[in-house]
Amino acid sequence: MSGLVSGPILARALDALLELAIVGSFSRIGFLARRSTQHWLNPPRLDGQVFIVTGGTSGIGAAISVALAKLGAEAWVVGRSQERADHVVELIRSAGGLGESAIADMAEGQSINEFATRFRSERTRLDGIVHNAGALLRNFSKSSEGVELTVATQVLGPFRLTELLAPLLWSASHPVIVSMSSGGMYTERFDLAHLEMEADQYDGVRAYARAKRAQVVMAREWARRWSRKGVASYSVHPGWVDTPGLASGLPSFERLGPLLRRPEEGADTAVWLAAGAARSEVTQNSVMGRSGLENGFWFDRRQRRENYLPWTRTSLPPDMEGEALWDWCCKRIGRSGHDRQISRR
Ligand SMILES: NC(=O)c1ccc[n+]([C@@H]2O[C@H](COP(=O)([O-])OP(=O)(O)OC[C@H]3O[C@@H](n4cnc5c(N)ncnc54)[C@H](OP(=O)(O)O)[C@@H]3O)[C@@H](O)[C@H]2O)c1
Repeated sequence: MSGLVSGPILARALDALLELAIVGSFSRIGFLARRSTQHWLNPPRLDGQVFIVTGGTSGIGAAISVALAKLGAEAWVVGRSQERADHVVELIRSAGGLGESAIADMAEGQSINEFATRFRSERTRLDGIVHNAGALLRNFSKSSEGVELTVATQVLGPFRLTELLAPLLWSASHPVIVSMSSGGMYTERFDLAHLEMEADQYDGVRAYARAKRAQVVMAREWARRWSRKGVASYSVHPGWVDTPGLASGLPSFERLGPLLRRPEEGADTAVWLAAGAARSEVTQNSVMGRSGLENGFWFDRRQRRENYLPWTRTSLPPDMEGEALWDWCCKRIGRSGHDRQISRR
């Protein structure tokens, strides 16, 4: 009995200690320590389900696509390069899984519209979207619609794609949205007025952190608006992961060498959430009155705080942050007020 009690308690204590030491937590050490002390199980099977993974052509997104396919889902690998998307789909198919490649530049409205049109004409089912596409861009640039590229790719693009595919998502039995944020978001507060940076004050690291913070706010808003439709919506932090994106965006992290997580390890929590593992914990724990496992910011299979630094807290209640970001996105993608009312129901 004492073993049963002390195991989970010790694992929780270790988790809390790791969280205090950022390097210990975000590096591979944190992943391996949590996986072994918390006795992680494989996520549930996803046979027959259909998932879209943006940024599925590289790094964490490729690992998510492969992992979802291994669980039995059909993974739509979405990227800007047909060749790279085909390569990941080949990996999936050669392992006996189901995959489909597709093109969408998540910074470009027209490209997203075309992808959504194709998807709707070829599939009648969508169980989940993993909004993983993203990059830390050192130089300022804008999309063809005039939106700063970090925000266009990681905030507006996912919003547009989700809006276009929402009716399909709502008809799934347990629809899920997973947004790949970053621990970098802990350094910035949510401030709509300064979300999109101008060329003269552009700082790639801050622009990235602000967009990642906005992803957390939008993930919460999807959950708030659509939980009655059965939608679970999470934001996730993958830790520090050895990928081409990390090498180009934050080259100093290369010094961590073997301490960086492997792409499959960075993908783990996103896959686990997409597969509904946290949601099944809600069912198991409902007797004890636990809730909140269908939303929130997650890292290493646990819901985490959204703020550590006092200056990143805002005075706005969370619902109002989400509402404001939602309205801002609607305006930027040219949705009318009428359309906005429809998507609230
Ligand atoms: N690696 C880390 O330590 C780390 C830490 C925190 C958060 N993240 C987040 O994890 C996600 C995946 O990053 P990664 O590290 O795996 O980097 P990666 O290997 O560079 O992968 C990034 C993916 O995003 C895609 N992408 C970028 N801009 C796009 C656009 N405009 N439209 C469509 N796709 C686009 C890339 O597609 P292309 O092949 O077309 O370039 C690529 O598939 C990102 O959101 C990143 O911010 C990573």
